[in-house]
Amino acid sequence: MDGNGRWAQQRGLPRIAGHNEGVESVRDTVEACGQLGVKYLTLYAFSIENWKRPDDEVSLLMRLLMRALRDETDKLHRNNVRVSTIGETSSLPREVRDELLDTITRTGNNTGLNLCLALSYSGRWDITRAVRSIVESVTGGKTDPGSITEEVFAGHLSTREMPDPDLLIRTSGENRISNFLLWQTAYSELYISKLYWPEFRREELYNAIEDYQHRERRFGMVSEQVRPDPVPPPPPGRIELKNVSEL
Ligand code: FPP
Repeated sequence: MDGNGRWAQQRGLPRIAGHNEGVESVRDTVEACGQLGVKYLTLYAFSIENWKRPDDEVSLLMRLLMRALRDETDKLHRNNVRVSTIGETSSLPREVRDELLDTITRTGNNTGLNLCLALSYSGRWDITRAVRSIVESVTGGKTDPGSITEEVFAGHLSTREMPDPDLLIRTSGENRISNFLLWQTAYSELYISKLYWPEFRREELYNAIEDYQHRERRFGMVSEQVRPDPVPPPPPGRIELKNVSEL
């Protein structure tokens, strides 16, 4: 969710005004994903590197997050959204952790959209943590090194309960992954939106999904091998969505 600061600066406003408006984009995107039947949405809300920002911006962001959770949890619950987090959430301020725990607990049995908030998250942190966990398992005699496959490794990542992302949307025209889901996005389709995050609303989400629907995902194979049969069975893990142009 990039470009909050630039959106605000362009209007002569403080950076936090961009983050504030960014919450509106979060609200609209989450609602639209729920309505479209998206099963998993992960929002990169705060990276480990973001802790290096000026203290006042970090604390305003934490307050904003807390307020958004407090204001939105009832609606998320009513809309059957299940909230979870990935990241080093133990670094978050106590009040944010309490609010998160409340949201996660209250929405824990919901069966609609799985909304995952990446908070104090970085891809390298996730991979390093997985390596540590596997090494502990090997040295404890529970895992034979020869049995470590990609699937076993993925099972030690913070995303073990989620499929890999089909589509990665980055806003503000930047062509970078910025330490997001490094392992998990190996074969994700990328969509770079020119819009700053505060301008990103469901119309641009539809554009991204429509663009995605015209991609050919070959996973290293050739076209003939992945071209759909006349009656195509859905590939495992692929999001089944209504065609956005029919909405
Ligand atoms: C990046 O823009 C954005 C962030 C670091 C914060 C994102 C947070 C929110 C949208 C609000 C809270 C989130 C939830 C889930 C309610 P930037 O500040 O790096 O923008 P810039 O690159 O233009 O400076």
